[in-house]
Amino acid sequence: MTAADMTAGGMSAGGMSAGGMSAGGMTAAELLNAAGVDSYLAFEARQQPQWPDAEALAIAVAQLRVKPPLVFAGEADVLREHLAAVARGEAFVLQGGDCAESFAEATADRIRGKIKTILQMAVILTYGASLPIIKIGRMAGQYAKPRSSDDETRDGVTLPAYRGDIVNRIGFTPQERTPDPARLVEAYNTSAATLNLIRAFTHGGFADLRLVHEWNKGFTRTPAYSKYEQTAGEIDRAVRFMGAAGGDFDALKTVDLFSSHEALLLDYERALTRIDSRTGNPYDCSAHLLWIGDRTRHLDGAHVEFMSKIKNPIAVKLGPTAEPSEALALIERLNPDAIPGRLTFVARMGADKVRDVLPAIVEAVRDSGSPVAWLTDPMHGNTFTSVSGYKTRRFETILDEVRGFFEVHKAAGTVPGGIHIELTGDDVTEVMGGTEEIDDEGLGARYETLVDPRLNHQQSLEMAFLVSELLQR
Ligand code: PEP
Ligand code: CO
Repeated sequence: MTAADMTAGGMSAGGMSAGGMSAGGMTAAELLNAAGVDSYLAFEARQQPQWPDAEALAIAVAQLRVKPPLVFAGEADVLREHLAAVARGEAFVLQGGDCAESFAEATADRIRGKIKTILQMAVILTYGASLPIIKIGRMAGQYAKPRSSDDETRDGVTLPAYRGDIVNRIGFTPQERTPDPARLVEAYNTSAATLNLIRAFTHGGFADLRLVHEWNKGFTRTPAYSKYEQTAGEIDRAVRFMGAAGGDFDALKTVDLFSSHEALLLDYERALTRIDSRTGNPYDCSAHLLWIGDRTRHLDGAHVEFMSKIKNPIAVKLGPTAEPSEALALIERLNPDAIPGRLTFVARMGADKVRDVLPAIVEAVRDSGSPVAWLTDPMHGNTFTSVSGYKTRRFETILDEVRGFFEVHKAAGTVPGGIHIELTGDDVTEVMGGTEEIDDEGLGARYETLVDPRLNHQQSLEMAFLVSELLQR
């Protein structure tokens, strides 16, 4: 965003943050209270850490409450309008990034690699689909993880599970695993630094379409890559043609890359919620888009209650146990006024289930008439442990779930609105398959993820090619 955008787009959401008076004479705290943002405290909050030091938590939360917002209400509104277009079939979402970001890896190189991967994928998808691609990172805040168990036991020693860098550290010692509230503030600071780099890269020339060739310097030439070179050449010619014909290039120089993460840690999300002085409405200013995970989407839970009160566009992950009636109840709770772009469902059924389980849900949502955008997360239903002992996924299976998702929407006459994937810009070896043919033995070469296996740079580009082919049908 430019400075001008920020004023037009709602500096307002920040203007109130330190508790200043509004025109109506109410303080920001009073307005938040009137908006009911604390109603979630009366509901069960699943997947929260046991903070051992309540006083330290209170100090961290108090610090966060007076920090500037990371994103602005007006920007979240822009994304909501884009998602409304997605639900109508007029745009397509690419949402991607780490399963779990880490503080240590919030380096310029790693962040740039991820942005580059997302932008390259978007170029391929735009060219293939002839639709605007709405780019959303799982970035600048994806630090909290749901876990299947509160504890982890190794060799008879039991410690708290690693819940993401915002809570504790991954090393298996009592010191590293003890939840530390100071990490909430570190998560905010790391998110701010990451977002600053995202804004600089996407508006400072790095994203210029005319440099599309520059982006891929230094990569090995695999079949996937030479296929990309050809498309890049075609895009290059199209851009030159537009230039010769007197086209407007400003649109090619900058892109919008929105931020998103799972709104898991309610102490953090509530502390970053601000009143937008344009409208008096509460926005969670930790990211543009927040989502509720498959493990916290309970209708009687604190996550659904909290998210019902904020005005950001929101998403909910739906796994294979989701019932059509639950999807309808979520619509009722989270988007009762049927605001276009407000609610996105992210299906993560598993390649073996998507064709059986998803149709009834999609049809029920369709018949409700509510404007829901549908994304596929083809990662989380397809995780298994390899013979060599790594948590992994197969490229082919991931692609098969995407195909199944498109088939279901085609049969229902509804819109497959986008893909949500776990990726990195690095040449890691975490997902099996792809043209590099990473096999079981190959996983050990460079397996770095803190939680779930991610597509590496080349696998991500291949996925973009394959999805853009599906979009052309
Ligand atoms: C995730 O996105 O990393 C995740 C935990 O997903 P889900 O809620 O779909 O299990
Ligand atoms: Co994950």
